[in-house]
Amino acid sequence: MNFELTEEQRMVQEMARNFSQQKVLPLAAELDQAGRFPHELVKEMAQLGLMGMMVPAEYGGSGLETLSYVLALEEVARGCASTAVIMSVNNSLVAGPILHFGTEEQKKRYLVPIARGEKIGCYCLSEPNAGSDSANQQTSAALQGDQWILNGTKNFITNGKEAHTAIVFASNDREKRHRGITAFIVDTENPGWKIAKIEKKLGINASSTAQIVLEDCQVPKANVLGEVGGGFKVAMHTLDGGRIGIATQALGIARAALEESIQYAKQREAFGQPIANLQAIQFMIADMATRVDAARLLVWRAAYLKDRGLRMSKEASMAKLFASETAMWVATKAIQVHGGYGYIKDYPVERHFRDAKITEIYEGTSEIQRVVIAKWTLAD
Ligand code: CAA
Repeated sequence: MNFELTEEQRMVQEMARNFSQQKVLPLAAELDQAGRFPHELVKEMAQLGLMGMMVPAEYGGSGLETLSYVLALEEVARGCASTAVIMSVNNSLVAGPILHFGTEEQKKRYLVPIARGEKIGCYCLSEPNAGSDSANQQTSAALQGDQWILNGTKNFITNGKEAHTAIVFASNDREKRHRGITAFIVDTENPGWKIAKIEKKLGINASSTAQIVLEDCQVPKANVLGEVGGGFKVAMHTLDGGRIGIATQALGIARAALEESIQYAKQREAFGQPIANLQAIQFMIADMATRVDAARLLVWRAAYLKDRGLRMSKEASMAKLFASETAMWVATKAIQVHGGYGYIKDYPVERHFRDAKITEIYEGTSEIQRVVIAKWTLAD
């Protein structure tokens, strides 16, 4: 792998860094405290081509590779983790599967507005009783004439409140377990789509997390994504890409916590000198910086493999596992470097600590990442 970024990749990174520093970062604390969805930032991300980065231009996207996507997403996550997950879900979990599994008609109708950022998407796999065990889908899909009728409850749906388009998984044959699951593209204006609850959370407060109830939700046959009974593969393939996105979000949070700690350590004085001169602080900073770099290398490797069309389930899980645990670890150390000031809301590390936790949970817990890594490692 060549560690030197191309001219285009450096331009994408710089563009996203400027946007994040000038527009995202100044709003992050307020968005977090108010629990407000950043509509204005999503609009600007759409104009900058950040909402459908890996989608070819003919379908409304930026036509870039995964490496450019992770470079941009790290910058956005450095500014605001909530804004980053909105971007990640749209790119990885919604545009990704429509591009990969969708028909030409589905791409024209649903992918183009998602990739342009005119519409927002969400991904409905989790259920009250199907989190890590995602094959245990209780949501049912029954074919009646030309329509599939969906009934069930979907949990913890990022972007669920704002989404126009949803990728929904449901079981058309419970006896077949994962081979009886089908993926559907659902328009959220459908009268059978109901937002039942908006969750109150520890972190990523500016992104919505909704419970969705599907009540006799009629979906045309033409909206089946992939094969009938092939939905579990759609879900797993999509999550491979999604995990690179969450790993990148975690990397951005970790970098933010590290940069805040460096800045603080240089200006805070104790025992007659800046605390950055104290070895106790230096060792923490050294460990934080090393883990952030290691997380970035794992993210870049997974992106590199994906760009070459190579199977990267193991590498995506490694990146997600390590980067999310790094985000939590670095954010914890960042509070330690700040002392009492790290525990209060005047300093951003308190937010980074709360935002970091979810990266160890969504799009597959750390335990699920270890299951995937062990399976591939033992089979090697
Ligand atoms: N790509 C393509 N196919 C895959 C695959 C992949 N990465 N992984 C598995 N499959 C296929 C297998 O080949 C197998 O196919 P066959 O039927 O042809 O043999 C099939 O899927 C079943 O595979 P497993 O036996 O390994 O499946 P399992 O039931 O044991 O589950 C699991 C495996 C890893 C535990 C999986 O259920 C999993 O990843 N669980 C976590 C779910 C998750 O990440 N949820 C997050 C929700 S999304 C979210 O958080 C959204 C948000 O809003 C941010």
